[in-house]
Amino acid sequence: MISPNMHYAELKDSYLFYTIKQKTLAYLQAHPDAKLCHMGVGDVTLPLCPAVIRALHEAVDDQADPLRFHGYMPECGEPGLRETIAAFYRSRGVDIAAEEVFVSSGASNELGDILDLFDPHGSTLIMEPAYPAYVDVNTMAGRQIYHLPSGMDEHFLPMPSDTIHGDLIYICSPNNPTGSVYNREQLKEWVDYANLHGSVILFDAAYEAFIEDDSLPHSIFEIEGARTCAIEICSLSKTAGFTGTRFGYTIIPAELVRAGMSLNRMWVRNRTTKTNGVSYIIQKGAAAVFTEEGRAEALSNLRYYKQNAAIMIETMERLGFRYCGGLNAPYIWMKCPHQMDSWSFFDYLLNELQIIGTPGIGFGNCGEGYFRFSTFGSREETMEASRRMLAHPW
Ligand code: MLT
Repeated sequence: MISPNMHYAELKDSYLFYTIKQKTLAYLQAHPDAKLCHMGVGDVTLPLCPAVIRALHEAVDDQADPLRFHGYMPECGEPGLRETIAAFYRSRGVDIAAEEVFVSSGASNELGDILDLFDPHGSTLIMEPAYPAYVDVNTMAGRQIYHLPSGMDEHFLPMPSDTIHGDLIYICSPNNPTGSVYNREQLKEWVDYANLHGSVILFDAAYEAFIEDDSLPHSIFEIEGARTCAIEICSLSKTAGFTGTRFGYTIIPAELVRAGMSLNRMWVRNRTTKTNGVSYIIQKGAAAVFTEEGRAEALSNLRYYKQNAAIMIETMERLGFRYCGGLNAPYIWMKCPHQMDSWSFFDYLLNELQIIGTPGIGFGNCGEGYFRFSTFGSREETMEASRRMLAHPW
């Protein structure tokens, strides 16, 4: 009889956001007239910007024309688009070559797929609170996971520890769920640590576009020494509303070599074997995000979400709740009132105020007692959630 991957038995029964969806559906079944405010999963609500829509339409027309039709796309990405993304990095002072850019269908796919590059018996360091897929994909792969917890006092920005190590280090900055961002000096410490130990940093830059403070790094490659120890994974999901369209990119520098193996060449080997590339239509739509017009339009959508964040920040301030985030990231991370645990607060908010958020415990044990609000909702629902919270007798 075939043996299944028994590591699946180590996973929680259900993925965090799936559980929230089931609880929401159950509530709506019992209360069909409820007007819920959705601030749970970080899913965008504004449509794709006009420059992207135009490019997508043109690409569809190309596929209808025998002279402009495209079949299989290059597995690592259309060369012109790889160069466009590299040039985008160079415009921010980061020297990246087109061959170091790999086009993907989104960051979440890559965060798990990239584990193919590493020995499954290796170890992973996950600083928490963390996006729950980090733990789940490493569990599925059978890797040894070490958790590095952090708290409000250190602004949820843990630094290298003398006692907790891992070969593969996940860093998400700006952080999901806390909204905290590492500064240059702090990231330099992680880069030095990784180079010293021969580890590799997987830098999740999915929220880089939300950074407002010019002194904060958008990319790990802004840090000296990162080219020999880091892979960066980014996505247009949050930057340009591609959650349902799917597009991302991964940067693997030529200098990233372990045990004589080039990780860049290994990833070319992996992608050319395991994928047939991202569709022509989606790559055309993604390319439009990097044009002057596309960037301006995407930024205008980000400003809308930032105004939602400002509404939630003001709400937290007026209620006197302890919180962080919302400035350089689209999430508000708050301490649950009255020592409530995360799931009790979830149920309380749902039942009393019909607001959906995400329980902090879903991001690791040190998230217990915290709660996350996404600011990707509509203005109407954000304002309504704020109104209900301010009117509530806490
Ligand atoms: C989240 O809510 O944490 C994320 O948006 C989910 C995701 O990116 O897959």
